[in-house]
Amino acid sequence: MVVPGSQEEKMFYPPDDLQMDAHVPDFNSYLQMYRKSIENPDAFWKEIADEFFWKKPATGSMLQYNFDVTKGSIYVKCMEGAKTNMCYNVLDRHVLKGNLGEKVAYYWEGNSPDQHLTVTYSQLLSQVCRCANVLKKMGVKKGERVSIYLPMIPELVITMLACARIGAVHSVVFAGFSSESLCERIIDAQSCVLVTADGVYRGEKLVNLKQIADEALQKCREKSENDEHGISGGDLDAVASVSNRLMWCVQTPWDSDCDVWWDEVMKDSPEECEPEWLDAEDPLFILYTSGSTGKPKGVLHTVAGYLLYTALTFKCVFDYHHDDVYWCTADIGWITGHSYIMYGPLANGASSVLFEGIPVHPHVGRLWEIIEKYKVTKFYTAPTAIRLLMKYGREPVQKYDLSSLRILGSVGEPINPEAWHWYHEVVGRGKCPIVDTFWQTETGGHVLAPLPAATPLKPGSATFPFFGIEPAILNEHGEELQGEAEGYLFIKTTTGCFLSGCRRDKDGYYWITGRIDDMLNVSGHLMSTAEVEAALMEHPAVAEAAVVSRPHQVKGECLYCFVTVKDCKEFNHTLMEELKRQVREKIGPIATPDFIQNAPALPKTRSGKIMRRILRQVARNERELGDVSSLTDPKVVEVLFSQRCEGAA
Ligand code: WTA
Repeated sequence: MVVPGSQEEKMFYPPDDLQMDAHVPDFNSYLQMYRKSIENPDAFWKEIADEFFWKKPATGSMLQYNFDVTKGSIYVKCMEGAKTNMCYNVLDRHVLKGNLGEKVAYYWEGNSPDQHLTVTYSQLLSQVCRCANVLKKMGVKKGERVSIYLPMIPELVITMLACARIGAVHSVVFAGFSSESLCERIIDAQSCVLVTADGVYRGEKLVNLKQIADEALQKCREKSENDEHGISGGDLDAVASVSNRLMWCVQTPWDSDCDVWWDEVMKDSPEECEPEWLDAEDPLFILYTSGSTGKPKGVLHTVAGYLLYTALTFKCVFDYHHDDVYWCTADIGWITGHSYIMYGPLANGASSVLFEGIPVHPHVGRLWEIIEKYKVTKFYTAPTAIRLLMKYGREPVQKYDLSSLRILGSVGEPINPEAWHWYHEVVGRGKCPIVDTFWQTETGGHVLAPLPAATPLKPGSATFPFFGIEPAILNEHGEELQGEAEGYLFIKTTTGCFLSGCRRDKDGYYWITGRIDDMLNVSGHLMSTAEVEAALMEHPAVAEAAVVSRPHQVKGECLYCFVTVKDCKEFNHTLMEELKRQVREKIGPIATPDFIQNAPALPKTRSGKIMRRILRQVARNERELGDVSSLTDPKVVEVLFSQRCEGAA
């Protein structure tokens, strides 16, 4: 790594005023701290851990790694032997020791601008204790799982922290997933309680969550009856429902055997609840992400490592100060929300905005209106939201006073230069650094990211590794490449090791080039092609399906599906609509295919593998095919080009 300075391309340097009181005030400080984190990880992480409360200190070293498969399974252990509680650290500690009881934890802003409220740290603590007592009364024990299917309302945060308090493992399912997806996740986690809401408005659209939850539970019961091993979600004991101020418009279906209303059970629940002291490596939560096998993959994060890592990344990457008002627009149903709406900000005692709505309701300036209203200082969103809002021009942004903003963040997918410059100039008035944060569900927190007062920016690059992270670029034989290089990015973190396509330039900046595992990133939501293909192939008319990504102006990528119908079936408009509906029902609206093309046959290699590269080229109308010698029947490709979907560029 070199101190950047003499590059041809335009660099964006940190503003002076930010450097004055920053945690990491310049590039040399970053380098010094980075070196310490790599050369002396014990001392580095011990200092971070000292800010938190440990019922019992760690017995051995702060971190233990084994990345050598020959020496047993791969693992990372953080602070073995220590005992603590996440909820105590993010709430009680602030209220009891930090004098932050009256500080606002969340400014909740509803879907409709006339619905809003504030929740202070001490209010949050007492609600969490009540909820923890309710869960205990329902029989939830340490280590058991609780599924949560809630919209972006304070009760979501309360329930998650209540689980953390009693040592139960929360499994949040994004409230846009279908009943089938919810059912699968309840069964996989073997949850004993489900917490949901009657419904939620997203923009103009009403989503009947309770009804979807009931369908999911019905599916769980059916599966449990068919499952000879009896391992399934049919054992769910209770469903708690939050009334989301929708009583007058939703007919909430009710099963008095297991359903209870949130308000009723919370009302008489005591406000004190001793936290359960957990081992550092005890599980904190499960969150599902798309696996490459077509089945969602449950990622488990444990208490101590996740606490230290989200707390420190939040503090440094957003250069957090106590008077900040911070806003991350993600949904808590994704890892970004877990780490950077909940745990990271709360661990630092921050005040955050919690937003239930969508960027374009009731008007396209909603995000900017909220920034003005709460005088937001740090704003974190996804490129897909920027690209969506860019379409409406500068006028809706410039109507509002955004002068409170100091740092902008980006997450979820590569940010293209056009969106980067618009975000920087129009939203940030050229004065706010953009922290482009690269990471994933498995890492739990940022792994590549600039530090706003220290790192000169190159638009589109997530710049340098965060503390403790040692990236390596490997070639296809797994050999490490030095200096300027392109290949597979290999990252060791406190939570495991990961691969992604990546380039390192001559100044040591990292540029994420793509994934190696056939994943798709639609509007910042990651899904695997296999998952969508599996949903398509469940339709009785479909013989075979292959899904590839196609660039999309707003969503980043969209789904382009090739479908081969069975001999006796016809490919027509009705089938296309049925298939779209099927994917929506199986996975959720985010996975709705944009294009479905008839494919009399798919291009296959001699070994029978579908050549996705060719399909991607058909979807993008790129006729320079390169080497097709491994195809069994090259004529298939011509047919596919001639039948491309209309409207596809
Ligand atoms: C992609 C979301 C480029 C990447 C936090 C990763 C990014 C996947 C960036 C993880 C970024 C995330 N630049 N690509 N700044 N951030 N990605 O698990 O492909 O939902 O592997 O976590 O998103 O998605 P996940």
